[in-house]
Amino acid sequence: MARVVYVNGSYSSYGEACVHVEDRGFQFADGVYEVCEVKAGRLIDERRHIDRLHRSLSELRMKVPMGRAALGIVLRETVRRNRVRDGMVYLQVTRGVAKRDFAFPSDDTAPTLVCLARSGSPAAAEKRASAGIKVITTPDIRWRRPDIKTVGLLPQALARQAAYDAGAKEAWLVDDNGFVTEGASCNAWIITPENAIITRPAETGILRGITRTVVVDLLGKEGFELIERAFSVEEAKAAREAFNTSATGIVTPVIAIDGTPVGDGKPGPLALRLRQHFHNFAEQSPLRALLR
Ligand code: PDD
Repeated sequence: MARVVYVNGSYSSYGEACVHVEDRGFQFADGVYEVCEVKAGRLIDERRHIDRLHRSLSELRMKVPMGRAALGIVLRETVRRNRVRDGMVYLQVTRGVAKRDFAFPSDDTAPTLVCLARSGSPAAAEKRASAGIKVITTPDIRWRRPDIKTVGLLPQALARQAAYDAGAKEAWLVDDNGFVTEGASCNAWIITPENAIITRPAETGILRGITRTVVVDLLGKEGFELIERAFSVEEAKAAREAFNTSATGIVTPVIAIDGTPVGDGKPGPLALRLRQHFHNFAEQSPLRALLR
């Protein structure tokens, strides 16, 4: 089946779709994005993802490309046309097309909106999670606004490649003081030998992950205490459990950090349990709701 992509009002095949060479997303990474999970034909946490998109746009003084309901239709229609039942949908907004100039273009410049959807195998995802993944650590060389979900992802791409080169699947980024900020494309968590569940506060140098927010809720409702503070690489290596959260990985156990096994080197029981219960706490909306 030919994949279809939404670009500025039309749905076309990948071969035909195009974005202008002077799009500011292309020249300046002047754009923001969201990735939403699609599970069993439902959109996961759409409301929160669109809220965060609005925040990213507002922090960068970018225009909202269309209203919430219309955006919901674009998301659903892109998923439908690509026949995605399980996978993800990606939404990107840039400041639009203008003659190359660092300062913002004129107010009448229309934002660029792109939406694409991709199927993924739930069985492969479960297999990966039940085996757990290895991570490496690498300096966090990003700009100082990682709370904005921009398409300026080169530091994360370099970090992910370094992980692959080392035989790992993800990189944890480390600040100048030796504390883990987050993963290249996920939030990072540990459970100490004393059973304290720790993740970095979302106010300090990380993206406030939607999956992170849902897991914080889940922990609260199940009566677990969460400590939001920075943790060091040494502390992580001595942890009982470690895991990542993201829309694409949900809760993914980490079994080694820089080659040091975490706990007994197997996925931790709490991480697996959080993964299992996650979708009972996430918001789910039917894909067809707005199309009827
Ligand atoms: N990444 N931190 C970073 C740097 C991320 O890129 C992501 C998500 C997260 C987790 O956020 P959420 O739980 O809302 O997915 C944290 C997406 C999945 C991506 O870039 O593909």
